[in-house]
This record gives sequence, C-alpha cells and structure tokens, in this order.
Amino acid sequence: MNYQWYPGHMTKAKRMMQEDMKLIDLVIELTDARVPLSSRNPDIDELGKNKARLILLNKSDLADERQNEVWAAYFKEKGYFTAKIDARSGAGMKQIQEIIREASKEKTERDRKRGILNRPVRAMVVGIPNVGKSTFINTFAGKACAKTGNKPGVTKGKQWIRLNKNVELLDTPGILWPKFEDQSVGLKLAVIGSIKDELLQTEELAMWIISFLRGRYAGFLSKRYQIEELGTEPEILEKIAFARGCRLKGDLPDYQKAAALLVDDLRSGKLGRITLECPETLS
Ligand code: G4P
Repeated sequence: MNYQWYPGHMTKAKRMMQEDMKLIDLVIELTDARVPLSSRNPDIDELGKNKARLILLNKSDLADERQNEVWAAYFKEKGYFTAKIDARSGAGMKQIQEIIREASKEKTERDRKRGILNRPVRAMVVGIPNVGKSTFINTFAGKACAKTGNKPGVTKGKQWIRLNKNVELLDTPGILWPKFEDQSVGLKLAVIGSIKDELLQTEELAMWIISFLRGRYAGFLSKRYQIEELGTEPEILEKIAFARGCRLKGDLPDYQKAAALLVDDLRSGKLGRITLECPETLS
C-alpha cells in the first residue's frame, strides 16, 4: 500500500495558515488521542514558533485511558500545555478556558507592561483532517457566543468568535497535512479512518489490526467476537467471519465483510478503548 499523496490545495492551506498565524497569540492544536504523533504535523512547531501552544488529545473517549495520561505527560514534558478532551460529548472542555488563561499568561503580562489592558487572547485551532477541529469549535463556542464582525485594519476578512471577554477564536481552523515520514503513519491513520477508504485495502488493515491487538490488547478480540485468539492473522479473521455470519456461498468465509466489520468496530470503539502508538515504543 502506498500512502504518499499530497494534494496541491494543502500548499495553499499552509500559506493561509502562515498569514493567520500573524493574527493570533495561541495555537490550539488538535490531535487524535489514539495516534497522538501520527495525527500531528511537526511543521506546526515552526509555523507556530513564538506563540503560546496548547495540544489537545481529542477523541480521548476512544483511546486507552492509561495511554491518555502517558501522552499528556509526554507533551507536557516537551513544554506544551495539554489536555485530553472529547469534543463530541464536551467531556474535558470545562478546563480549557483556564488552560488558555494559563498558556497566555506571558502575553497578558507583556501587554500589561506596555499599558495594554484587557486585550483578548486570540487563538486559532489547527490540526490534520478529521481530528475534530469543527466539532471542537462548535462545542467550545457553544451557542452563547457572538461572532464578531471584521475589524478593519487588524482582522480584515476574518471572522472571530468571541468566547468571553478574554478569548477570541478564529472561526475557521487551520488544516495541516499528516506527515508521512514512514509507512506506519499512513497505516495508522488509515486504521482510524482518517484516510479515504478507496485508498485502502480493508483486509490488509484487518490483518494489521489483528496483529496489533494480539500484541498490545490481548483478549479484546476474544471478548468482542467470542473467539480464541490463536492461529495466524488470516485464521483469526476467518474465526471472526464465522462468528459474525460473514459467509459466502458454499459456507466459505467472507473475509472482505469480516475485515470491514473489524475495522468498523475498531474505529467506533466497539472493540474497546485503544491507542495505536505510545511514547515508549517510538523508535
Ligand atoms: P475536522 O474538522 O478536524 O475535519 O473533524 P470533525 O470535527 O469534522 O470531526 C471528524 C469526526 O470525528 C466526526 O465524526 C466527529 O463527530 C468525530 N469526533 C470529533 N471529536 C470527537 C471526540 O472527541 N470523540 C469522538 N468519539 N468522536 C469525535 P463523523 O463520523 O465524521 O461525523 P458524525 O457521525 O459525528 O456526524
């Protein structure tokens, strides 16, 4: 499988983000808590240098709780402000205002020394496709906040969402592209469904999932499908096929259907809370 693709519009998106960066104080970067590194593009470190930085582990409801803690500590140790959230349900969102205040302390202090009081912190949400940027903005902004109009000179053509008197959020998120440094990044993004389905071979993904789960989450497959986790990957997929009635004519296993079912179950969290990468196994 080859995941190397880079649509031309991403170059434009990056240029636009560079422009938007000039308008903001704080970068709120969303990652997918199941693949916190593979769902980042480290270029943001260069784009967002000199800005306050907040990394959010989103979809933490789908990720392994213990690994959420490990990753939060990892990013914190690297100097980022960080929090785990579930933007869809709103879990973990309450703390964000306070973290933003904390992350912007330096800027507020600089302003104060220059005699500027009460200038709101301007923030921008960034992340690769499908990490939950729109969901986050909707949940965070809620219904209560008003959209501010264009402010001539300073924010021409930009829409800001005023969250409260202290924080304004750019209403369109910045889109980054995943960094396919090695094949495993593309593979993991494919597994969680961040890369379009037509590029994938479901059965190949299923084999990878089976192998990965047996290594790190032993017992998850047997619990979900009431099967024994013994044998080769294709043999296990066959067991899943039979357990779930995925059969072709002549009572042959329908591997394709079983693979699709397995992939869906993983993506939706039905197999359990799973994190696909952890700092200690990074090479
Ligand atoms: P994007 O702007 O970064 O591209 O992502 P978007 O908000 O569109 O979210 C992508 C998908 O991820 C959506 O699902 C969204 O509901 C889901 N999502 C976002 N945040 C969370 C979270 O914290 N937990 C979980 N479990 N899911 C989250 P979808 O299937 O595309 O749409 P829908 O079925 O929700 O309508």
